[in-house]
Amino acid sequence: MPGHFIGSPQHKELLCRFFIDSHAPFEPAALEWPELDEAARAKLASLPIWKEAVRTEAETALAVAAMGQAESDPLLAEAISLQGYEESRHAQILKLLTSRYGISVPDFDAAKPRQPDWAFMRIGYGECFDSFFAFGLFALAGRSGFFPPALVDLFEPIMQEEGRHILFHVNWVAYRQARLPYAGRPGYVFRRALAMWLQAVSRLKTALKVKTASAQDNFTMNAHGSLADITPREFVELCLRENERRLAPYDPRLLRPAFVPAVARAVLAAMPRSPAAARA
Ligand SMILES: [Fe+2]
Ligand SMILES: [Fe+2]
Repeated sequence: MPGHFIGSPQHKELLCRFFIDSHAPFEPAALEWPELDEAARAKLASLPIWKEAVRTEAETALAVAAMGQAESDPLLAEAISLQGYEESRHAQILKLLTSRYGISVPDFDAAKPRQPDWAFMRIGYGECFDSFFAFGLFALAGRSGFFPPALVDLFEPIMQEEGRHILFHVNWVAYRQARLPYAGRPGYVFRRALAMWLQAVSRLKTALKVKTASAQDNFTMNAHGSLADITPREFVELCLRENERRLAPYDPRLLRPAFVPAVARAVLAAMPRSPAAARA
């Protein structure tokens, strides 16, 4: 791909068009929730993710919508607002799911960000981290039978939407950077690195919280459904494959997320090869 494509009007057109054209219209209220027996319902409810997930989706929806309003370019504004709409659907779907299956989530007030631009950039990096692992976990949950197949089908479009969001994000960031005059670039690169770092730290904190909560609730991923019957190496390999598969359908001229997969590959290179060593 020629270097001058990134930041060009064609790049902007492509990054917005790919996003707008691949949007799937559906109404959350029309979704049909499968009947779960008590064991399956309890297993779903025991996942220590609901509070965080409901909050994240609601805050993301508000922040992305705010960025859509703040963006002055009409085509970019259209694509970003559409993403805000998709995020609000995610928030609605989680609300529906938690009430349908009796999962209690505390009330909270989602706050509109004061700097939509900065919030949008941080959200994008956050999604790059989250989606990388979520794609692998989702595949694992489906094939291990941890999630009933009907729920896997229901969440499939949402997973794909997150894939489109991270693809949009990396191209949006690169487009804006390339459009800046040279003097402005170091500042932008610094903000970009800071946003990425802050999201990495926040993900680490969440992971630690989830781990502590899991230990307290005696939640084990490998109970019954054997969600974790996989070595760390196999899991990272699965995440890498799933990331590639999810983003494969889109135009090859679009940049792909590079940072998290590169870290994952470096981690893989340092991991023990033998399954026995990894499981021990
Ligand atoms: Fe989302
Ligand atoms: Fe998203």
